[in-house]
Amino acid sequence: MRILNEKFNTIINIHMNISKVDICCGLNWGDEAKGKVVAHLVKNFHYDYVCRWAGGNNAGHTIYVDGKKYKTHLIPSGIFYNVKSIIGPDCVVHPDSFMKELKYLRENGFDTSLIKISPKAHIVTETHIQEDKDKYKDQGTTSNGIAPCYKDKFGRKGIRAENVECLKDYIWDEVLDGIVLCEGAQGFWLDINYGNYPYVTSSTTLPYGACCLGFPPQKIDKIYGASKIYDTRSGTDPLFPETLLDDEILMSIVKVGGEIGTTTGRIRKVNWLNLDKLIVAINTSGITDIIISKIDVLIRVNAYKLFHNNTLITFKNIDEMQLYINDSITSFCKYVTTISYSGNVEGI
Ligand code: IMP
Ligand code: MG
Repeated sequence: MRILNEKFNTIINIHMNISKVDICCGLNWGDEAKGKVVAHLVKNFHYDYVCRWAGGNNAGHTIYVDGKKYKTHLIPSGIFYNVKSIIGPDCVVHPDSFMKELKYLRENGFDTSLIKISPKAHIVTETHIQEDKDKYKDQGTTSNGIAPCYKDKFGRKGIRAENVECLKDYIWDEVLDGIVLCEGAQGFWLDINYGNYPYVTSSTTLPYGACCLGFPPQKIDKIYGASKIYDTRSGTDPLFPETLLDDEILMSIVKVGGEIGTTTGRIRKVNWLNLDKLIVAINTSGITDIIISKIDVLIRVNAYKLFHNNTLITFKNIDEMQLYINDSITSFCKYVTTISYSGNVEGI
């Protein structure tokens, strides 16, 4: 009973000591430069923790620090700026890949003692990876064992991080205090509930999922939404047919935009921004600040189009296109207070 009371007291303290939570999530199909947004926030504002709330090493974060490019798959981007980095309870961890990432970060001079894993996170085993390769090929997964691992978790047959010897030095004490930033993985349309099921991932990519880290929703302040100015899809999805790769302008966006998967090395299918879908993603996620990146790519290919009300609209230049996007978001998305555009790899 005493132990239980102590545990409950800790939980009460967790809530008392968190001053606020900001969240950053993706509004498309992943690959929206969330890592860049997180890096920008951590550089410019104070955060005590950066936390991942879902997914595993199916994600890929590309971060530029002082002009140098770094990649991680599971570890939150806060690590590049010396912030405590938490892998949350609804994440899945493949221990060998985690160890490799630690080694890579250590070799590059980052302080890996700041990285912790929730004891409740689930373990991806070699059997999960094999099952993914054998049974989920038609869904174009990243082959990292994600679906089989979550299947075992929800079937209540999984293994948790707290039970794995090699992770014992990295287990999180489940305390959060101060100012917390939650870093999303994947994007709105890959969410297990909201995406084009079954062409989705197996976790929650919307801000509602972040609450699994152990804070009450009342603590949420800003919700940053990352989008690209054109849509991309890595992996199989009938909403993103392979025929898009035959379109010459879209193909030049693939080349100029470097639309090749960070995790899989596959060419991403590109389509014009679907503003109808973006508005749904913004409103369902409660986005307060939106960051639309890669405008430099459209400028370089000199083509400015988007779908709105199911119609393809063409603009003369980037200014006209941005004005249209701003007007639409201002009219239809009442929680949004700022809209920013980004056209380079490091800044916003
Ligand atoms: P899984 O998450 O490996 O099971 O893959 C399920 C689907 O989500 C596939 O279409 C993947 O290509 C896609 N996916 C998973 N993670 C990412 C990501 O970080 N960026 C883009 N697509 C992703
Ligand atoms: Mg990514």
